Amino acid sequence: MKGIKLEIQDAKYFAEKEYEALQSESVTALSTLMEGTGAGNDFLGWVNLPSTTPDELVTRIEATAKRLRENCDYVVCVGIGGSYLGAKAVNSALADNFEYYYAPNPGEPKVLYAGQNIGEEYTAQLEKLLTGKRFGIIVISKSGTTTEPAIAFRILKELLEKQAGKEKAKDLIVAVTDANKGALRTMSDNEGYETYVIPDNVGGRFSVLTPVGLLPIAVAGHDIRTLLQGAKDMEAQTAHPGSDNQAQTYALMRNALYKSGKKIELLVNFDPSLHYISEWWKQLYGESEGKDGKGIFPASVDFTTDLHSMGQWIQQGERSIFETVISVAKPSVERRIPEDKENLDGINYLAGKRIDEVNKMAELGTKMAHVDGGVPNMRIEIESVNEYNLGQLIYFFEKACGISGYMLGVNPFNQPGVEFYKSNMFKLLKKPGYDK
Ligand code: PA5
Repeated sequence: MKGIKLEIQDAKYFAEKEYEALQSESVTALSTLMEGTGAGNDFLGWVNLPSTTPDELVTRIEATAKRLRENCDYVVCVGIGGSYLGAKAVNSALADNFEYYYAPNPGEPKVLYAGQNIGEEYTAQLEKLLTGKRFGIIVISKSGTTTEPAIAFRILKELLEKQAGKEKAKDLIVAVTDANKGALRTMSDNEGYETYVIPDNVGGRFSVLTPVGLLPIAVAGHDIRTLLQGAKDMEAQTAHPGSDNQAQTYALMRNALYKSGKKIELLVNFDPSLHYISEWWKQLYGESEGKDGKGIFPASVDFTTDLHSMGQWIQQGERSIFETVISVAKPSVERRIPEDKENLDGINYLAGKRIDEVNKMAELGTKMAHVDGGVPNMRIEIESVNEYNLGQLIYFFEKACGISGYMLGVNPFNQPGVEFYKSNMFKLLKKPGYDK
């Protein structure tokens, strides 16, 4: 198997006729998306992105990434929400779990993240780490006016200019922003930074396959062409309605479960490298569906770690949840549990088995327990964690999100609720224009 495979047989917690009734709604939602006739249809640029991304753009991103890789030991991606989570998700999934404990090698910079919080200690500690180091900055903001990344960028830019000089700093800063609007665009044009454009018709949380995600992923040394190819194959597989359209099926199942009272979806992994895939997924579904008093609450757990913290709730708490498990079929390495003559820990019954075999049995045992306990279980098998399969997974979730949002009856492509905290914060901080 290559790519991803969705299994739904353990999630049908509703009458077959309810599922059938929703089938036609899922077909309508898919065609609304594909024909661009629904709410938010000015934000559908992501739908055909994998098949329409020009080769010249990929080549330019690779060249920029090469320049940053050659000249930096650290590259800081400054951005928040959709302007950082996609890159963080892919880079974390493809990284060695202990990457940050190794010193950077020449030509292999560590990719760090800033501007995704307003933590004073976080910022000061990052400055401390970067003091005296060769570093570069990729600053990403579609609006070009978001406060969190603006603060981080101001501070890091000052440090970089102090260390490298203003002229050299220009070559080490790359901005990804709107073609014309926003403070970041104005600043980039004035300072002469290299820039990439976030297309107008691609919203932040759907932007991982634009330079927003592709540049930091390429800087981390990953193959963005293969990532795009995976997404492109999934784009083709999910273009038309049918039982083989996995994105349509996932959207349909989520809505059927939601209607049957399952209001919370837990995205589950059994591999710690997928933690940030869940963070990206939560933003994608949370911002797309949670509006007009509706929406499945997207939550996530890392197993087996969280079976020792959240397992009790999941097994016997309020029966309002369902699980979607991402299961990696083949780890990239093989490690077996050794025999121990004394067997004082009593685990010789596992000797000779692969660690992954134990993990898979934990997954199966957990599924059986949770299904018995009233938790519907969908499973997405991903062949292995590599660029191609991640490209498939990303596009699959994006497509399903668009279909699911339309089935739910919301505009999946806006996020009006995000403005409320900003407006209060700006009033409290007396931002010009908000101080009255
Ligand atoms: O999905 C979204 O639109 C948001 O999460 C944005 O990505 C986030 O608010 C950052 O916005 P910007 O890229 O304009 O700085």
